[in-house]
This record gives sequence, structure tokens and C-alpha cells, in this order.
Amino acid sequence: MEESSPMKLEVEQLTAGYGSIEALHGINLSCSSGEMVAVIGSNGAGKSTALNCICGVVPASYGEVLLDGRDILDEPPHRIAMMGIAQVPEGRRVFPRLTVLENLEMGAYIVRDKAVFGERLEFVYNLFPRLSERQRQNAGDLSGGEQQMLVIGRALMRNPKFLLLDEPSLGLAPMVVENIFEIISGLVGSSEVGIIIVEQNAAMALSIANRGYVLENGRITMEASADELICDERVKAAYIGG
Ligand SMILES: Nc1ncnc2c1ncn2[C@@H]1O[C@H](COP(=O)(O)OP(=O)(O)OP(=O)(O)O)[C@@H](O)[C@H]1O
Ligand SMILES: [Mg+2]
Repeated sequence: MEESSPMKLEVEQLTAGYGSIEALHGINLSCSSGEMVAVIGSNGAGKSTALNCICGVVPASYGEVLLDGRDILDEPPHRIAMMGIAQVPEGRRVFPRLTVLENLEMGAYIVRDKAVFGERLEFVYNLFPRLSERQRQNAGDLSGGEQQMLVIGRALMRNPKFLLLDEPSLGLAPMVVENIFEIISGLVGSSEVGIIIVEQNAAMALSIANRGYVLENGRITMEASADELICDERVKAAYIGG
């Protein structure tokens, strides 16, 4: 087996906004390879903004995003992608008129080596056998859950070091969510990828995460192990419900 040193993604004092509105007021968070970190928060808390800043889609006004100590905040999105950060944005944007396989090929556009491409495809199909069964089907005809699998699979085609997942549970039936979360959880247990998952479904996200952060109105208000957060009275009252 090839030895790879653990990597770290660190967000420091990240501040960003839209026009005169500041959406993130200096947040700190981190994720190591092989770790799953959940960011929970309600609508408008700044979860998507945080992920979009990390992958260079939304410009930050202040702060740092360090990939193994190197500041990548001013890099363009395609460079950040090449460095091994893959984002699965909110809303399951598949290419509806392309087949499942073609969608996965799009995810691997930077993978030039045919053998490497084949390995990645096999990895993704093993992870999501549903995609393998439907590889010639148009992505637009997949169910919501299958589309979510496809966008995650597409991001994994590049063998990212860090995967940023934006609300993968949104609009899916509880059983489908459980299935997808089980697969994501297995991915962390069996590979070196580090995952940052942002979710309104705090119970689900914390059930598979190692650590978590609570993001409220653009500020991190709590940081603890996932087990601690799940049991926390404030978290229960605000994000888990009874
Ligand atoms: N493109 C934009 N232009 C202007 N304001 C924006 C834009 N995107 C987000 N915002 C604002 O920034 C704040 C944070 O939004 P963001 O989308 O990051 O929240 P979120 O936590 O992802 O919410 P949700 O759970 O609804 O997806 C909100 O007040 C939102 O209205
Ligand atoms: Mg969002």
C-alpha cells in the first residue's frame, strides 16, 4: 500500500458577503484527511457561503483557507479543484441530457490516464451500485436520491483529498437519506478523503460525523465532537427537535 501523509484543510477568520451584506463574520474550522466534519445551521446561516469560499466560487473579503499550510484563498476555482478539493453543491445539478456514465466522465475531465479513469469508475460504481445499473440512462430520469448519488460520484471521480457536501439530504425521503449517509460514512471509514458536510438535518449529519460545528448568523457558536453535540440541550432544542 502506498503511504500518504494526512492532510489538513483549515479555514481561518473567513469573512465573506454579498455587496454590503456580510454573510460570514470570521469563521474558523478544520478538517483532516479521513475525518468527517459536520457544519449544522439553519437557513441563511452561511453554510453554503462557507463551502463556496473554500472552493473559490465566492470571494472572501478576509481570512485564510489553508490546504496543508498553503493559503489557497486567492486561487481560481479550477486550480482549487486540481489541488484536490471537490464540492457537491446544493441542489443536485446533474447534466440531465447526458447519461450517468457521461456525467461521471465530466467529473473526471482532468483525469487523462485511461487506466486511472477505469479505476475511479469502478470505485464509484462499487460505492453506488445503482449508478452502475443505470449507467446508460439519462441523468435527468434518475430519482432524486440517485441524482444525489450521481453528483457525489461525479465529485469522487477526481479522487479528491477533501469533499465538500452541501445539504445532500435536502428533499429526499428519510430512507433514501439513510442509505446515502451510510455510503458516505463508509467512504470516510475506508479511504483517506476528508469530508465537510453542511446540513440542516443535524441529527443525520451528526450521526455519521466525527466532529461538528454550529453556524449561526455567520458565526461558529459551538464546536465539539459529534457525540457531544448530539447530546447538547441547545443543539437538541434548536436543530434536532423532540
Ligand atoms: N448570491 C447571493 N446574493 C446575496 N446574498 C446572498 C447570496 N447568497 C447568499 N446570500 C445571503 O447570505 C446569507 C447566507 O446564505 P447561505 O446561502 O450561505 O446560507 P445557508 O446556511 O447555506 O442557507 P440554506 O440552509 O438555506 O442553504 C443569507 O443571508 C443569504 O440571504
Ligand atoms: Mg445553503
